[in-house]
Amino acid sequence: MIDMNTKILGLIGHPLAHSLSPRLHNYYLQEHDLNYVYLPFDIKPEDFSDAVAGLRAINFKGVNITIPYKEKIIDYLDWVSEQAQHIGAVNTVVNEGGVLKGYNTDTPGFIRMLKEDGEFDIEGKKAVIIGAGGASKAVGFALCRKGISKILLLNRTIDRAQKLIKIWQGIYPDVEMDYGGLKDERYIETFKKYQLLIDTTPVGMVPDTDVKAVISPQYLHSDLLVVDLVYNPLETVLIKEAKKEGANTLNGMGMLLYQGIESFSLWTGIKPEDTGLKNDLFM
Ligand code: ATR
Repeated sequence: MIDMNTKILGLIGHPLAHSLSPRLHNYYLQEHDLNYVYLPFDIKPEDFSDAVAGLRAINFKGVNITIPYKEKIIDYLDWVSEQAQHIGAVNTVVNEGGVLKGYNTDTPGFIRMLKEDGEFDIEGKKAVIIGAGGASKAVGFALCRKGISKILLLNRTIDRAQKLIKIWQGIYPDVEMDYGGLKDERYIETFKKYQLLIDTTPVGMVPDTDVKAVISPQYLHSDLLVVDLVYNPLETVLIKEAKKEGANTLNGMGMLLYQGIESFSLWTGIKPEDTGLKNDLFM
């Protein structure tokens, strides 16, 4: 029950139409009988600074930060974890007595999904990442931290891929790296050498589900684990094509859940163990 001691958590982004985070966090808060509430806040860009000032003024316990503010929030924080600094994006803010601390839980969320849901050991493997936006940054760092041997980054806008590769190379010089465009056959024909392919683009997400996969399915193969970070729909066109080729597949639901569990634990000190939510967050 909400009373004088209820602590406030929330989500700040714009637009917020399809977020599952309020359901996820309120479910765990109830399950663990914690006196918190998690609310969505759709904040327009011109109101962003006031909203962050409000977090301190109203004494929020913490917030998730989502598109388009994961990078912008960094300038407003008192402290940012080394991992989030490397990634250049914060998705979780904890208010410790007026000190705002920033973390990125997408990276551990992604690592846990590969390990637990994909039974995939990153060490020594080769990976293709498609897309060079915010999600790609967290994925690239996750792979580098866990000992990937090679990353090929393909993006529609090649310049963006080049820039990101440069940043990664500066921090992880031992990982072999290459980049190219989405239709660059020089690269796509080498897909057989890779064991992991991650699509970080929104291609195939509702409402535009009836589209071509982001790369030509002819290059997919049965020794690949294909990950699409989209979770709505659970089966994107890429996942369907990958299954046809006999590849293992994962959608983005695991990462959503596991990053949420990490954030929850930063705010409350409790790490929920019940992961059954993955199967019915949409219901
Ligand atoms: P996010 O933070 O979710 O990663 P983002 O920063 O906007 O979002 O990045 C979206 C990524 O998806 C980008 O790599 C984008 O390619 P560009 O850099 O060329 O813009 C990619 N993307 C978006 N729509 C795409 C499409 N229709 N085809 C191919 N790539 C697409």
